[in-house]
Amino acid sequence: MRIVLIIAVAIAVPLGTIGLAVSLNYRAELRREAERGVIAEATATANLIDHHLTSLLATARATASLGQLRSYGDDARADQDQALREFATRLGSNTRLATFTLDGNRFATSNDTPSFNISAYQGFVTAVAGTQAWQVTRSLTTGRSGFYVLTPITASLSQPSQVIGVLGMGVELEDFDDIIDHPATKSPLNGVITFVIDDESNIVLDPGSVTSRPFWTNHSPKDWLRFPFGVIGNSGSVAFSLDGQAFIAGYSRIEQTRWAAVVAVPQTTIMASANRSTLIAILTGTFGAVVATLIGAWRVARIVRPLARIAEASRAFGSGDATVDLPEVGEADQELQDLIDAFRRMRWEIDSRTGERELAHARLEGALESLSAAMSEVEKSHRQVVQRERLHAIGQLASGISHDFNNSLSIIIGYCDTLIAHFPSRTDDARLVTLLTRIRDSAHDGSILVSRLRDFSKGAASPRQLRPLDLNAIIDHSRALALVHIEELHARGTPVSLVASLRSVPLVLGDASELGSALMNLILNAFDAMPNGGTLTIETERQARFVRLTVRDTGTGMSDETRQRCFEPYFTTKGANGTGIGLAMVYGVVARHGGTISVSREPDHGTQFEIHLLVSHDGDAEHVNPLELPLHPLTTVHERSA
Ligand SMILES: Nc1ncnc2c1ncn2[C@@H]1O[C@H](COP(=O)(O)OP(=O)(O)OP(=O)(O)O)[C@@H](O)[C@H]1O
Ligand SMILES: [Mg+2]
Repeated sequence: MRIVLIIAVAIAVPLGTIGLAVSLNYRAELRREAERGVIAEATATANLIDHHLTSLLATARATASLGQLRSYGDDARADQDQALREFATRLGSNTRLATFTLDGNRFATSNDTPSFNISAYQGFVTAVAGTQAWQVTRSLTTGRSGFYVLTPITASLSQPSQVIGVLGMGVELEDFDDIIDHPATKSPLNGVITFVIDDESNIVLDPGSVTSRPFWTNHSPKDWLRFPFGVIGNSGSVAFSLDGQAFIAGYSRIEQTRWAAVVAVPQTTIMASANRSTLIAILTGTFGAVVATLIGAWRVARIVRPLARIAEASRAFGSGDATVDLPEVGEADQELQDLIDAFRRMRWEIDSRTGERELAHARLEGALESLSAAMSEVEKSHRQVVQRERLHAIGQLASGISHDFNNSLSIIIGYCDTLIAHFPSRTDDARLVTLLTRIRDSAHDGSILVSRLRDFSKGAASPRQLRPLDLNAIIDHSRALALVHIEELHARGTPVSLVASLRSVPLVLGDASELGSALMNLILNAFDAMPNGGTLTIETERQARFVRLTVRDTGTGMSDETRQRCFEPYFTTKGANGTGIGLAMVYGVVARHGGTISVSREPDHGTQFEIHLLVSHDGDAEHVNPLELPLHPLTTVHERSA
């Protein structure tokens, strides 16, 4: 919509401006024209009056030249009156004639009751010098009574007191109203008024009843019109206003008189057409704006809207909407159709490139996943290799020294036993017996360590033949052995219980002796972890190709570091009370069985070990004779020592 406004303004503003400029120029021109017009009319009127005066003068001269008027003595006045009366009759009813003496007194007149005031002509008469002929020009009276022309009668004067040949010729001023009102000078404009004023701004000729107009009756012409002829010259224009109405007036001075013809016109008369043109300009501007708005709306429908749709589609496409499309506009607007086609090509290309990129990205992610899986596999097998190597090294070491070291310990134990057997009766040797007992017990402990190391190394060094086994039977056997410990712990005030939840599971491939030993290690570790009592739970369950064995306690649990290192050989948190071989041995046994072992923290503290052993698919279960199962080394020692 903004574009419509822009187009409308773009068209309407210049149009309106041009219209206004034309209108203003027209107004100024009109005013100048009006001024020229009123001056011309005033000049025409002045010329007309001048012309009339000139013709009056000619008549007077002609009258004088008739020779009828000559110098007469005082006694001849009656004859002269008679003669003047006859001339006046010939010239017209309004014409008056008179003769004057040199001293300015009227001598003879055409009327019985002349309205001439002779004293008014003093100035002209004194211009006559001596008895010579003289030049008298025309003049006008200042009053309303009439208009007079004085002309010399060409004659030699014998005496100054004689009647001089001056003929005064007068007409009523009303005669001039007709002149002013003459069609030749009448303005075609409405409200135009023509009148004549003297040099004191008195209206002397008023044919159109100027002074009777309502607003002019309240004002003296002197209030509103001043004609300082000497300043503004013989013709020109002035503007004045009267009771709120503005006038433009032209004036022109009548030759050799103190009068000027004035033609005034109300400004509203002139400006009416200018106002019309202003209105036309405004209408033109408005029309232009309307047309521009329509054109704009048409363009919007035609171009801007499709463009906006393209922009909208681009935005939607940019925000991921791949389905966005544009309607056809067809050949009617080929450029727009080209634009839409270009948009579609762009979208198609971006689509295909995005598809390729996504594919590559997915491949890359797949590769990364495989890589990371491979890495963790490598890491796992690395850990296993390291663990296996460690176990192997320990096994080698243990098998090397255990035999000889055990022989040494057997000798120490044997001699101790012998000495203890020989001194029991000697009461004063009680201290000796105590010391010997301690030596023997320490040697026993060393022997236990050695035998555990041997067990450990035996397994690590020479893997046994695995056979199908009933895992539940092994667990039952271990449970029976553990009961001895449970009783002991109860006796020491540590309430420990053992719960076995054994499901019917398939046979597993294994070595009964090794598995029994491993399970016993887990059970004893659990008892150690429950110094204030608790429950040990043993479960079996089939899981796909495996049987899962779970050993769970409610003991102290492991720290993160312990959990990570517990399978390391010699890692113990029990100080002198532990060797750190137990879990390493369990790990070795499970690994040799092709199974897995993991340790986790229990939600309410405690620890859980999970062992997965492979299900056996061939043959019956090997009969497990509990007696053939090895006793756990510790158990053995305890039994022996008991
Ligand atoms: N059930 C358990 N709860 C808490 N900690 C345990 C548990 N089992 C093992 N551990 C931790 O793992 C360590 C290693 O156990 P491992 O059986 O290998 O050695 P040990 O028990 O310390 O000594 P020994 O050689 O006598 O078994 C233990 O010292 C103990 O800190
Ligand atoms: Mg242990």
